[in-house]
Amino acid sequence: MAQFTLPQNSKIDKKAGKTFKAPSSAKNIKTFKVYRYDPDSGANPRIDTYEVDMDSCGPMVLDALIKIKNEIDATLTFRRSCREGICGSCAMNIDGTNTLACIKPCDEIKGDAKIYPLPHMPVIKDLVPDLTHFYAQLASIEPWLKTDSPAPTRERLQSEEDRARLDGLYECILCACCSTSCPSYWWNADRYLGPAILLQAYRWLVDSRDEATGERLDALEDPFKLYRCHTIMNCAKTCPKGLNPAKAIAGIKQMMVERTL
Ligand code: SF4
Ligand code: SF4
Ligand code: FES
Repeated sequence: MAQFTLPQNSKIDKKAGKTFKAPSSAKNIKTFKVYRYDPDSGANPRIDTYEVDMDSCGPMVLDALIKIKNEIDATLTFRRSCREGICGSCAMNIDGTNTLACIKPCDEIKGDAKIYPLPHMPVIKDLVPDLTHFYAQLASIEPWLKTDSPAPTRERLQSEEDRARLDGLYECILCACCSTSCPSYWWNADRYLGPAILLQAYRWLVDSRDEATGERLDALEDPFKLYRCHTIMNCAKTCPKGLNPAKAIAGIKQMMVERTL
């Protein structure tokens, strides 16, 4: 899996971290080193250390974070909702890889579990990144069905073959693990749309029911929005849903070429 360094927007204060010891009765202890940051405090981020008794904890990293919040330190802040890899809200950097805390087993992590927010994003608090720009980029590709023809009396139909073209695309849960693992996105996020949003763009470009393909391609024809992908492949390596955004980006580039022939 891809490993990343994590230059967040301020320096970690190595001396400020607190340690929360497990009860002396605990026999199966795992240590979690968790990034903590509260912009309102004015202090630099720190790494807090939590010893968790795994005999009374569920198997996933999210279970451990919930246990920490419920039983050890209520100030720890993170997003989560579905707890089964569907909502994308628990995306974070665990053991050097962007993934979903709710489907990452603790016993896959050797040694201490190091937990950071998604890299290269502004941090709202602790493990919660600010996804405002990411969502604005999603809105910019108009991720909905666009048609000019009159609506049919029943639904707009697709052949099985046309429907199959959406496989590998519709499953995206917009967790942002891929975009925040992409070096091109790290350095050009102001203008490059990044793998997650481009995969979404491709999902609508190849939808046989959509009637705005030319308009969508026009909107992507830009030296930065699309062409900053250098096929480094971090996106495909890190996607917790096993998708391949780089392939979708290549598909968009191919459509751009084909329409000029
Ligand atoms: S392609 Fe994968 S990693 Fe990227 S946003 Fe979608 S589900 Fe997350
Ligand atoms: S393949 Fe493209 S989108 Fe994926 S990580 Fe590399 S540069 Fe980013
Ligand atoms: S809590 Fe929904 S994906 Fe993890």
